[in-house]
Amino acid sequence: MATPAPHPLSPPIVIAHRGASGLRPEHTLASYSLAIEQGADFIEPDLVLTKDNVFVARHENDITGTTNVASHPEFAARRTTKLIDGESHTGWFTEDFTLAELKTLRAIERLPRLRPDNAKYDGQFEIPTLAEVIALAKRHSVGGRVVGIYPETKHPSYFASIGHPMDALLVAQLKAAGWSKPSDPVFIQSFEVANLKRIHTMTGLRLIQLMDSSGGPADHAAPSYAEMTTPEGLKAIARYAYGIGPGLAMIQNGDAAPTTLVADAHAAGLRLHPWTFRAENAFLPKSLQVGTDPATHGHIDTAIRRYLDLGIDGFFTDFPGIGVQARNAAKENR
Ligand code: G3P
Ligand code: CA
Repeated sequence: MATPAPHPLSPPIVIAHRGASGLRPEHTLASYSLAIEQGADFIEPDLVLTKDNVFVARHENDITGTTNVASHPEFAARRTTKLIDGESHTGWFTEDFTLAELKTLRAIERLPRLRPDNAKYDGQFEIPTLAEVIALAKRHSVGGRVVGIYPETKHPSYFASIGHPMDALLVAQLKAAGWSKPSDPVFIQSFEVANLKRIHTMTGLRLIQLMDSSGGPADHAAPSYAEMTTPEGLKAIARYAYGIGPGLAMIQNGDAAPTTLVADAHAAGLRLHPWTFRAENAFLPKSLQVGTDPATHGHIDTAIRRYLDLGIDGFFTDFPGIGVQARNAAKENR
C-alpha cells in the first residue's frame, strides 16, 4: 500500500515573517504574495485595530516608520505622544484613523539602510486588512496546497484599555472564515499571557506563547519570560498553548552552545517556532557573516539548519524562499 502523503503543513513549518519582508516592505499584500509564491506554509500578519475597529496588518499601532503618513498634511494634527506598554511613543497611531483614512496611506520600508531594494517599493502598497490577508491565503489554498495564517495580537492590553478589546473580535473573524478547530491552518500568537488564556476559552485554534530573552509580558501575567521557561513555567503554558515562539537567542545565542529550551519545551508537550531568521549580517552570528557590511547577506541557510538540527518544529523568517529550501533539504537528509 502506498504511504499516505504527509499533511501539507506538517512540521517543521516555514512562517513568512511579516510576509517575505526581506524582499518587500513588511505587512503588505505584495510581501505576503511573494512569500506564498516562494512556498511559505504560513503568512504572518501582526494585528492592530483602526478607529472603526478593523484589524489591519502592522507590526505596531505607531505607523510612523512603516507608512508615508508623515507626508500627508491632512493628518499632521494627529501626530501625538502615547504611553504604550510603559513606553512613550510619538507619531501617528492606527486607532486614530478609520480604515478608509488608513487606506489613503502607503507602506514604506522599515529598514531602508539594510534593505535598500525594498525601499524602491516605497509608496506603492496599501496597509492590508486581516480580511484581505485571509482572502489571499484562501485564494492560494488550492490543488492540495494549504496556506495558513499566523496572526499576532499586538498590544492587546493597551487596545483593551482604550476601548478596543481584540480577543472576541479576532476569534469571531477567524470563525467567520471557517477556522475554529486545532486542525485548521491558523496559529494565534501573543507576547502577552492573559489574552491567550482568554482566547483559549473561546476557540479551539492553536495558540503560541511568544517570549524573548529578556523582559516579561506587558500584561504582567508572569514576572519574566525567563521564569516562563522553567519546567513549571512551561507546564503552565502547555495548559493553554500549543507551543512557544521564543527569540532565536533563547535556543542558541549566536555561536554559543545551545540551551536546553528545545528539550525542556518538548518535555512539557510544547512545540517551538522561534523567530526570526534574517539573511543580513546584522542579524547573523559572527561565524555565519560574510564580510563586514551589515547589509550583506550571510549564511542564513546554515543558521536555519543549525536550529532544525536542534529539533525546532517551525520557524519565522523574513526570507521564506530560503527557509523553504533549507527546510526541504533538512527533511531530505533525515
Ligand atoms: O511573532 C514572532 C515574531 O514576529 C515576534 O517578533 O516583533 O517581529 O512581531 P515581532
Ligand atoms: Ca510578529
